[in-house]
Amino acid sequence: MTSTFPDAERVAEAAAERVEGAAREALRARGTLRLGLCGGGTPRRLYQILAGEPYRSRIDWPRARIYFADERALPSDDPESNYRLVRETLIAPLGLSSDQVFRMKGEEPDLDAAAAQYEALLGGPLDLLILGVGEDGHVASLFPGSPLLRETVRRVAAVHDSPKPPGRRLTLTPRALLEAGKVLVLATGAEKAAAVARALDPATAPEECPAALVRGAEWLLDRAAAARRAVPG
Ligand code: 6PG
Repeated sequence: MTSTFPDAERVAEAAAERVEGAAREALRARGTLRLGLCGGGTPRRLYQILAGEPYRSRIDWPRARIYFADERALPSDDPESNYRLVRETLIAPLGLSSDQVFRMKGEEPDLDAAAAQYEALLGGPLDLLILGVGEDGHVASLFPGSPLLRETVRRVAAVHDSPKPPGRRLTLTPRALLEAGKVLVLATGAEKAAAVARALDPATAPEECPAALVRGAEWLLDRAAAARRAVPG
């Protein structure tokens, strides 16, 4: 399903409403919310909105567990670290405790070992996963042509040759994306329009445009990002 909003702020507000709904559902069904978050610029505003009222009070944050969709191979305080983004916008403002935050250890020299450790931490499916889309159609750190797009067993893997810097990363695999209870894909801005159109075209294979993996997810777009879709929503 796709929904189109006038601008990026409306996309972030709509996403926050959906996070609240999914949180309620997960907390009612399982008593916990396993939330997977991506990095990049697009979700920043969403995280800020979630950390402020009314969502600060409406979501039962002490019962949430924060996981990551991907991480760059950098120290956790690097300005480009996805953990740092989420810490500054959501974790610190909400005062979440360290035992409810599960970060990918991008600073580990052995990224394959770090991926295996994260796989053990993650355990099973996420309740809700927030994803952005790259201009090349990547999601998490699954890039076009990556052999990880054919990975069916592991939920987490190391990336050694990402075309988007930094080249080394950790990422959830297609398995983890596909088994999440709910996936929200956010895309804003004209530079995302071509990737969005390709991903939502049923003829597109994930090898060519990894975002096609989550074509069936809920997509929240601004007008600019939705502009090249065959059937604007
Ligand atoms: C990352 C992200 C990545 C991101 C897209 C879109 O760490 O690079 O998790 O998958 O969502 O690259 O990034 P922007 O939102 O900055 O365009």
